[in-house]
Amino acid sequence: MTYEEAKELLSNHGQEQVLKFWETLTEEARAALLGQIASIDFESLERMKGLLNAAPSEGAADEGRPEAVAPEVVEWTDSLYAEAKAVGERELAAGRVAVLLVAGGQGSRLGYDGPKGAYGIGPLSGRPVFYFHSRKVLALCRRHGARVPFYIMTSEMNHEATVACFRENGYFGLDPADVIFFRQGMWPALDADGRILLDQPSHIFMSPDGHGGTLTALDRNGCLADMKRRGIEAVFYFQVDNPMVEIADAAFIGLHTMRKADISLKLVAKRDPKEGVGVVVKRGERFEMVEYSELSDEQANRRREDGELYFKYGSVAIHVFSRVFMEREARKAMPLHIAHKKISYCRDDGTVVKPEKANGCKFEKFIFDVLPDAGTVLNLAFDRAEEFSPVKNAEGNDSPATCRRDLQAKWGRWLGLPEDSQIPLEIDPAYALDADELRSKGIRLESL
Ligand code: UD1
Repeated sequence: MTYEEAKELLSNHGQEQVLKFWETLTEEARAALLGQIASIDFESLERMKGLLNAAPSEGAADEGRPEAVAPEVVEWTDSLYAEAKAVGERELAAGRVAVLLVAGGQGSRLGYDGPKGAYGIGPLSGRPVFYFHSRKVLALCRRHGARVPFYIMTSEMNHEATVACFRENGYFGLDPADVIFFRQGMWPALDADGRILLDQPSHIFMSPDGHGGTLTALDRNGCLADMKRRGIEAVFYFQVDNPMVEIADAAFIGLHTMRKADISLKLVAKRDPKEGVGVVVKRGERFEMVEYSELSDEQANRRREDGELYFKYGSVAIHVFSRVFMEREARKAMPLHIAHKKISYCRDDGTVVKPEKANGCKFEKFIFDVLPDAGTVLNLAFDRAEEFSPVKNAEGNDSPATCRRDLQAKWGRWLGLPEDSQIPLEIDPAYALDADELRSKGIRLESL
């Protein structure tokens, strides 16, 4: 893109201020700035500007819409589990399953300066979160004698560091040809007047476009085509911050396949009515996710006759998507979500200011906004103690300490240790993926 092209494009969208320091920039800085301008999705930018002026409640308004009701949630029975597991094993062995990790976020709450996946979570080894995810994928490949491609979404901010973590660790034993990194999109932030913010005279402030950007990014980077070429039918989706996740477990994949679902979600019984997890609801024939912040007190506290919460289950972003559904959704415009943030900006004299209060808006897409487009949705209950203990905060709830505790408790159960056992433990998922596999190796409490 040339300077003239950039100028014209920006003035067509009322964003001439982006070039206000042009005369003072070096050739190198000018080239980088033109590159940033060329990467901006101006169509979405216009939608963002529209959102700035919308009433805050717009979109969340319930008026005229069918009432939100709790959807059917499947709970395992022994026979359903056995049937689904057999179907899932067949799908995995046929190489029709891919794994998709979203790891483009910033992890600012953890206070860790690097990709969250590189954080050393191993209770004994200090091995990174990526190790535990990757070794599970390796175990799946070995167990089912098939290739399981592992797609990893990064962002501009952590792509190099993520790839380096895999390279330095020999891809944790995986075949590098089956580990596919792809970058998500980045979006500028806007001030109250809808103008793009510069955080340096030569640099536009940009941040990842949210996990809802996954579908566009898969499409633009050729990953959907790659999946099709490989014969993938089901894509297991999960977030980087949960080292406890059971990746592409056969029973979940199997039930998704049996039900011919577009999307399947694993749901957890909420710890309390206001726990910060999204809730799947059904309105008429359509499903949607209601973020906890949008659930009214009345909805959150509503009880069934048996005393259980009416909206009992929350989503922790463990899904299976049908590849065909992802393809269908990838080119649709998704809703935008707005967040008011403190964003460093350049004054007219070029000095950079760190504001004390929110001065700009960031925008994100959320993956679960594809739910209303799904024909068949499977909601499956799972046990939190077995599969969910995220690393989100530096301390307290959902921190490295609680995650290490929960990992060790899970491994301890495999060995038949009491819940309060203090024995330090760590098990390589590629050695044993579950209690049965550990037992099959003759590892028992007495042998430790
Ligand atoms: C999220 C969910 C919440 C769910 C909880 C479970 C949202 C809005 N909320 O909350 O419903 O119950 O996780 O742990 O999603 N990511 C990207 N690119 C981005 C933004 C995020 O790849 O642009 C990835 C992150 O790397 C991470 C995941 O998405 O793997 C979750 O992001 P985060 O912003 O930490 O979500 P939470 O607020 O914790």
